[in-house]
Amino acid sequence: MTSNFALGIDIGGSGIKGAVVDLAAGDFATERLRIETPQESTPANVAFVVGEIVANFSDQLGDGPIGITIPAIVQHGVTLSAANIHPSWVNCPAEKIFEDALGRDVVLVNDADAAGVAEVQFGAAKGNPGLVIITTLGTGIGSAIVYRGMLIPNSELGHLEIDGYDAEKRAAASARTREELSWDEYVPRLQRYYETVEFLFSPDLLVVGGGVSKKAHKFLPRLNLRTPIVPAELQNRAGIIGAAWLAVDKSAHPDLLR
Ligand code: BGC
Repeated sequence: MTSNFALGIDIGGSGIKGAVVDLAAGDFATERLRIETPQESTPANVAFVVGEIVANFSDQLGDGPIGITIPAIVQHGVTLSAANIHPSWVNCPAEKIFEDALGRDVVLVNDADAAGVAEVQFGAAKGNPGLVIITTLGTGIGSAIVYRGMLIPNSELGHLEIDGYDAEKRAAASARTREELSWDEYVPRLQRYYETVEFLFSPDLLVVGGGVSKKAHKFLPRLNLRTPIVPAELQNRAGIIGAAWLAVDKSAHPDLLR
């Protein structure tokens, strides 16, 4: 680690949020700023809002690292998919677009990867020496695979095909609200999802994030798995904290990780 402070920015379908993170403490060092995601969430429009967030924190950040999350596959700075954001992000040199707009380096990562890393560094999976799979149940299902503290990026386990369905269409938190499912109806879908993930990966720990994890008592005790499964701890701070952590990690090892 070269710096203890970095700016984390979390781009979501409805809001773009940022805060300076104290990575020694694993928590925000400033207030969080939230700006609505532009109606047309194109790269240029989103980059403009990201610029406003960076400008807002310029005094506290100085020339510190900037990490940004996005709900998309991000390989070597290029976004290859687009979940709940404008389709023009597909095959888009997004990291470069942000860097050109801001005039400085950024590190762009998948939203669930950032949240997962934050849970392993500072939250529910802190200190776990094995294989941890973090899933976020929201509009879709995001996933992060972390083995011995090292992220294996872009796992996309929300798109496993289970019983002929794209898993997130059946088991994301949005499926419960969209289809007005009772917990009795929703829990078997989660059971089917997590038993498949467990069978395929044999993780040491499963962590469940996303807004629905606040209601973990309604479903976690009812899942029948051999793997311990726990709620995420950092809630809506995870993306920002993980983005900041990954930004510092990458700036410390530029050749190794880019
Ligand atoms: C996307 C992932 C994203 C997840 C959570 C999925 O639909 O494919 O890239 O991490 O939603 O936003």
